[in-house]
Amino acid sequence: MRIIFFIYLFVLSFITAFSQGTEASFKEDQFIDDLISKMTIEEKIGQMTQYTGFFDITGPAPESGDNKRKYDDIKNGLVGSMLNVKGAEQVREMQKLAVENSRLGIPMIFGYDVIHGYKTISPIPLAEAASWDLEAIQQSARVAATEATAAGLNWTFAPMVDISRDARWGRVMEGAGEDPYLGSRIAAARVQGFQGSDLTASNTLAACTKHFAAYGFVESGKDYNTADIGTSTLYNVVLPPFKATVDAGVMTFMNSFNELNGIPATADKFLQRNILKGDWGFDGFVVSDWGSIDELVIHGYAEDAEYAAQYAAIAGSDMDMESHAYKEHLQSLIEENRVDVSVIDEAASRILRVKYRLGLFDDPYRYCNEAREKELTMSKENRDASLEMAKKSIVLLKNDQDILPLPKSGKKIAVIGHLADSESSPLGNWILAADDNSAVSLLEGTSNYSGNEYSYTQGVRLYEGREKFIYELKINTEDRSGIEQAVALAKESDIVIMNLGEHGFMSGEARSRATLGLPGLQQELLEAVHEVNPNVVLVLQTGRPLTITWADDHVPAIINAWQLGTESGHAIAQVLFGDYNPSGKLPMTFPRSVGQVPIFYNHKNTGRPYDADLVFWSHYIDQTNAPLYPFGYGLSYTAFEYKNLSVVSSQNTVDVSVTVTNTGDYDGEEIVQLYIRDHHASIVRPIKELKGFEKVSFKKGETKTVKFQLTEKELGYFDNQGKYTFEPGKFSIMVGGNSADLIEQVIEL
Ligand code: NOJ
Repeated sequence: MRIIFFIYLFVLSFITAFSQGTEASFKEDQFIDDLISKMTIEEKIGQMTQYTGFFDITGPAPESGDNKRKYDDIKNGLVGSMLNVKGAEQVREMQKLAVENSRLGIPMIFGYDVIHGYKTISPIPLAEAASWDLEAIQQSARVAATEATAAGLNWTFAPMVDISRDARWGRVMEGAGEDPYLGSRIAAARVQGFQGSDLTASNTLAACTKHFAAYGFVESGKDYNTADIGTSTLYNVVLPPFKATVDAGVMTFMNSFNELNGIPATADKFLQRNILKGDWGFDGFVVSDWGSIDELVIHGYAEDAEYAAQYAAIAGSDMDMESHAYKEHLQSLIEENRVDVSVIDEAASRILRVKYRLGLFDDPYRYCNEAREKELTMSKENRDASLEMAKKSIVLLKNDQDILPLPKSGKKIAVIGHLADSESSPLGNWILAADDNSAVSLLEGTSNYSGNEYSYTQGVRLYEGREKFIYELKINTEDRSGIEQAVALAKESDIVIMNLGEHGFMSGEARSRATLGLPGLQQELLEAVHEVNPNVVLVLQTGRPLTITWADDHVPAIINAWQLGTESGHAIAQVLFGDYNPSGKLPMTFPRSVGQVPIFYNHKNTGRPYDADLVFWSHYIDQTNAPLYPFGYGLSYTAFEYKNLSVVSSQNTVDVSVTVTNTGDYDGEEIVQLYIRDHHASIVRPIKELKGFEKVSFKKGETKTVKFQLTEKELGYFDNQGKYTFEPGKFSIMVGGNSADLIEQVIEL
C-alpha cells in the first residue's frame, strides 16, 4: 500500500514537473513567435549582427563615419549583440540606446572573452585542467561569472573545448589538453560554473562552446590553419567535449576559423545543422568567430562577401561577429530568393530565446549595478578562490633526492629569471579586463617565507615590447650580459630557484611556435647557472608543454607552474616550501622534441609497434618514441602504491576496484586514473583510453579502495557514420597514477 502511495507521489511530481516545464517552454515559444511576427526583416537581421565596442558611451556620441552608422544601428534596433563593452555603467548606457530608442526595445546581449577570470585572473584553462578537480574548475568559472556579470556582462566566449595534440599550437593554453574524456568532463563543469543553475540570476551568464570544430587540429600547429582529420578522430576525439556541453545545457556555440575537409567551419552545414542543431538538438544560437564570414572569401570558398553571407546563414551560423556581411547582404539575398526567410526567422528566434532565458526581456539592466561591481571585483573571496585553484593546478615534474620542499629558514636562496619578478606574465593570455601587473610574482611570493635570505637577478632578458594581448613580444636572442651576474649569485647561494619558460603572451591566439624549448637565451642561462650550482629548482612558467629534456636530465627538481593567474607567486611559494603538497597531473603529453609532435597517449597500435632487431618498425632512428612526461603524469611529495586490481564483469557493467596506499611521508592527494583498451574492433581503437578518474586524499600511511564502474557508455565508440557502438570482446582494464604506469587486467566481455 505504502509503495503504491510512493509510486503515486513520484508519478504525480513527475507529471507536475513535466507540465511546468512544458508550460514554461510554451510561454517562451509564444513570446518569441509573437516578437518575431512583429519584426521586420531588417530587424531580424539586426539580431544576427554583432558589433565590437567602438566608443566610450559616457563621452559624446559619434557624429560621422562608421561609428556614427553603428551608433544609429543600435538606436534603430539593428544590432543584436555587442562584444568588448564592459563595466556596469558602459553596458547600461549602451543597452539604453537599444532599449529606449528602438521600435521594439529588444535588449542586446553583451559578450566578452571571460576565459580564465575577469579581473581576478585564475590559472589558464590548461593549468586548471591539470587539477583534474571538476568541482574546483566549476567554482573557478563561477567566480569569473560572478565578477563579469557584476560588470554588466551576460555572455562569455568560453569554454574553449578544442582537443589538441600539438603543443606548437598556442591556443592549447585555452583548452583542457589532449584527452576527450577529461576534456568532456571539464567542458561540462565549466558550462555549469558559468551558467549556474538559474540563468536568470544576476550572477550567471550564458556560456559559449568554441570553436566548432577541429580547430585544435590545425596543420603544423599553426593558428588559423587548415584541419584535415578522419571521421573516426572527428567523432571520437573532437566532438565529444562539444556534445558534453550541449548535454550540460550550454546556451551558445562559436564556430571556428579553420576549414575541415575543404569546408570552412563557418559555412559547414553538416557540422552546424546536421550534427549540432539536428542530432544533438541544440536550441541555442551559433555565433561566427571574428570576421570568419568574410574569411570564407579569403579561404577560397565564397566568391565575395555576398556569397559568404549566403553560405554562412544557410549553414546555420546565426550571428555575424564583426564581418558586417549579414547586415550588408542578407536582405538582398532574401529578396533574390538566395536565402529563405525561414533561415532568418530561425536564427533570430534562437538569439531571442537565449535573451529570454537570461531574463533580459524582464530587466535589460539586471547585470548593471555599480555597487555590486565595486564590491565583487577582485574581492578577497575571489582572490582566495584563485589561489586555491592555482595550487591545485601545479604539477611536480621531478624531485630527485627530495630536494623539495625547500627549508623555510636558514638558506641563502638565489632567485633567477626575467619571469620571476613579472607581475604581468603569470596572468596568462586572456586577460582583457585585468589590471596591468596585478599578479603576485614568484619573487613576491617567496617573501612570505622570510626565514631564508633571498637575492634576485634577472639573468637574461626574455622579451621586450608591449605586454598586451594584441602585440607580439620580441624575444631576446642576443643580449647575454646578465649571465655573468647570475652565475656569480648562484655560486654564493645554497639553492637556486630559476623561473624560466614563456611569458603569458607567448601562448594563446596567434602565438604558435615552431620550437618548444625554453625561449630565447634561457637554456644557456640555465646551463651556466647549473654548472656552478647544481642545486637548481626549475619553476617552469608556460602556456603549453615544453621540450625541457636537458633540464629533466640535469636539474634535480622541476615544478610546472604554467601561468597561474593573480595569485601565482603565493601558490608557487606554498608548494616550494611545503605548505601545499602538489597533486596536479598533466592533461597534455610533454614531448622530448618538436619532431615527436603530435604526440599523445591515446594513439593507435599500428601494425608494427614492436622493438625489433631489424629496422622495420614504427619508430625514430634518432630518438625514443616515449614522451618526456606522459599524459596524466605528476608527482607528489609523498608516494602512492597501487595493488589488488579487481575487475568483475556482469551483464551490463564492469566493476573495477584497486587499493591505493600512501607510502610516503606526507599527507597527499592522488588522481587515480582508469584506462581501457578495446583490443579488436571494427574501427581500430587506441592502445589506451581514459574512462574514469577520482581525486582522493590520503593521510600518511593510509590505504583506500577506489572503485569505478564501466558500462557500454565507456566501453563503446563512434563508428564512421557517427553511430555509437559497443562490440564485445577482449578488453584491458588499467589503473594507475599516470597513463604510462598502470596495472592491468585483461577480460573478455
Ligand atoms: C577570436 C577568437 O578566436 C575567439 O576565441 C574569441 O572569442 C573571439 N575572437 C572574440 O574575441
